[in-house]
Amino acid sequence: MSGIINSSIARKFAMALSAFFLMFFLLQHFVINVTSIFPNNGKTFNELSHFMGTNPLIQYVMQPILIFGVVFHFVMGFILEIKNNNARAVKYAKNNGAANSTWMSRNMIWSGGFILVFIVIHFIDFWFPEINTKFIQGDWSGMHNGEFRYFEELKHKFVAPWRVGLYVVGFVFLALHLLHGFNSAFQSVGANNKYTKGLKTFGKLYAILIPLGFAVIAIFHHFNH
Ligand code: HEM
Repeated sequence: MSGIINSSIARKFAMALSAFFLMFFLLQHFVINVTSIFPNNGKTFNELSHFMGTNPLIQYVMQPILIFGVVFHFVMGFILEIKNNNARAVKYAKNNGAANSTWMSRNMIWSGGFILVFIVIHFIDFWFPEINTKFIQGDWSGMHNGEFRYFEELKHKFVAPWRVGLYVVGFVFLALHLLHGFNSAFQSVGANNKYTKGLKTFGKLYAILIPLGFAVIAIFHHFNH
């Protein structure tokens, strides 16, 4: 572990690997959540949520790996930022930032920080209640009043306009973070070849469409509860 922290190339590489893992998680999270706006009154969403929420492989293997990945990415991000600032012991006489780097690349720590705030709120909204129901109350049935509870719980969360607003701000920061992060992660693992142009286009599409899709889901439920 100290090797990763002390070598700048290893740090960037580890950061990129955790980023790939989180981007893959985000895609599957989106695919499951988007079923909540299908015109079948939450049937698909309920079935997928129940499978994900009760499958032992997901719960006891994938979920701990995911939580480790989230914490690792944030901690390494902060370490990278501090180390980079210290390495620049003599501050640039003139920071000509906009000329040779984008706003997104210079502000990854801020967009990442806001995503961290979003994740804490998001865990309080969804994840902690889920952990409470299953692991503390011991109720793995997924039922409430004779029906699956997941879809109703989701809709209920997006009634309050302030929460929808906060989530949408979170998704904007997520888009800004991904707009730089996606391609930066590929560069860190040396993916600089004839596919770079296509990869860049794909990265931009991913960075815009996934957060936009999440925003559509939140807004949809706000107007359809
Ligand atoms: C409209 C948008 C979103 C909705 C409706 C939503 C919904 C949910 C729900 C229902 C859970 C609980 C899953 C469970 O444990 O059974 C959850 C967990 C989680 N969400 Fe989201 N989410 C959204 C956006 C996001 C975004 C943008 C991120 C990341 C930046 C994110 C990260 C997570 C994480 C890390 C967990 C805990 C891991 C897990 O599923 O076990 N979510 N979300």
